[in-house]
Amino acid sequence: MKYFRSHLGVKLFTSYILVIAIGMAVIWLTTIITTPRAYAHHLQFMEQRLGMGNGMMFGQGQGQQGGMMMDFYQSFRASFNESLIFAVISASLVALAVSFVLSRSVITPVRVMTNASRRISEGHYAERVQSQGTDELSQLAASFNQMASQLEQVEAMRRRLIGDVAHELRTPLTAIKGSAEGLMDGVLPANAETYQQIHNEAERLNKLVNDLQELSRVESKAINLNIQPVDVTRLIETVTKRMQFQFDEKRILLNRHLPHDPILVLADEDRALQVLTNLLGNALQYTPESGTVTVTIEREKNMAKFSVRDSGIGIPAEHLAHIFDRFYRVDKSRSRTHGGSGIGLTISKHLVEAQGGRIWAESNGENNGSVFVFTLPIA
Ligand SMILES: Nc1ncnc2c1ncn2[C@@H]1O[C@H](COP(=O)(O)OP(=O)(O)O)[C@@H](O)[C@H]1O
Ligand SMILES: [Mg+2]
Repeated sequence: MKYFRSHLGVKLFTSYILVIAIGMAVIWLTTIITTPRAYAHHLQFMEQRLGMGNGMMFGQGQGQQGGMMMDFYQSFRASFNESLIFAVISASLVALAVSFVLSRSVITPVRVMTNASRRISEGHYAERVQSQGTDELSQLAASFNQMASQLEQVEAMRRRLIGDVAHELRTPLTAIKGSAEGLMDGVLPANAETYQQIHNEAERLNKLVNDLQELSRVESKAINLNIQPVDVTRLIETVTKRMQFQFDEKRILLNRHLPHDPILVLADEDRALQVLTNLLGNALQYTPESGTVTVTIEREKNMAKFSVRDSGIGIPAEHLAHIFDRFYRVDKSRSRTHGGSGIGLTISKHLVEAQGGRIWAESNGENNGSVFVFTLPIA
């Protein structure tokens, strides 16, 4: 019973056999019940054609002729039964073979998929099954393959992420270690500058770790958004007040183009501020001294459109599609010395999309400035 329960093939095979057995039994019973009547009926027809009296041939007649007809019927019945037995046996044998083949044809793809999923769970993510046709099993195979390729992608992403993180951590760590060794060997002077250098590297590590934590939170959608109507003018005022000092320090002009009529967006105020801070921070970072940065807010259908335009170093066209990817930096060395890890825009993208908006970048190429635009739904 346990064997029966745990094997789909056995179940299928048994059900085929059951169907065949019932079919046979019905045929058998029907022939046994209907043959005498059918036989009598046909004999009567023959009697009429041969011009004999009614009932002479089939038992009702008297004497020799009636007995002979009875014998005739009995031998007909015996031969009929005999051939019926042969028919049942040969049909059963053929049906048995066909059921075996049929249940195997159903079971084989299932078994193939079971093996493939086992291989995948053992870490062989490239495993796929063949899927031809359009029946349910082929559909199952197709969605199995889809799942497998998604798993493969996730796995590749995980590996790349670990590699990237290790790489990002190594740079400041190496610098800290180098400075410490220089101090120990007396190669570096034990002065405020050296300590400041070590402190800066440690600060970078700290920022990187915080960014990574934030990234993992937004990527796993583990952030709680407090969506409310927010006045966009207030958003811009808050963020510029916070950052004005940094802009003044670098002598970069920060312009604002705000709408005449108040616009309310449906957003999480802190998260929207985080995105703006990020974009303004980048504009500040990638714009040389005496440049200009302009924040504009416009209404576009049912969305509010925030643009941060700078007169900075710009982004070559081939990089535009990638700058929202994690750890992506156009100029790795330059960005790193400024403390950039290439995570800021990735976090911003997740935050904007979580609030129902879109974010993108435009640039006329190197040294022609850049524009970062994001939208938020209007309340
Ligand atoms: N305003 C900008 N002007 C030019 N390049 C930019 C600007 N903003 C972002 N980038 C490019 O996009 C990359 C990714 O930005 P971001 O995710 O904020 O990382 P980072 O930590 O390097 O600033 C940056 O390294 C830089 O190459
Ligand atoms: Mg940045």
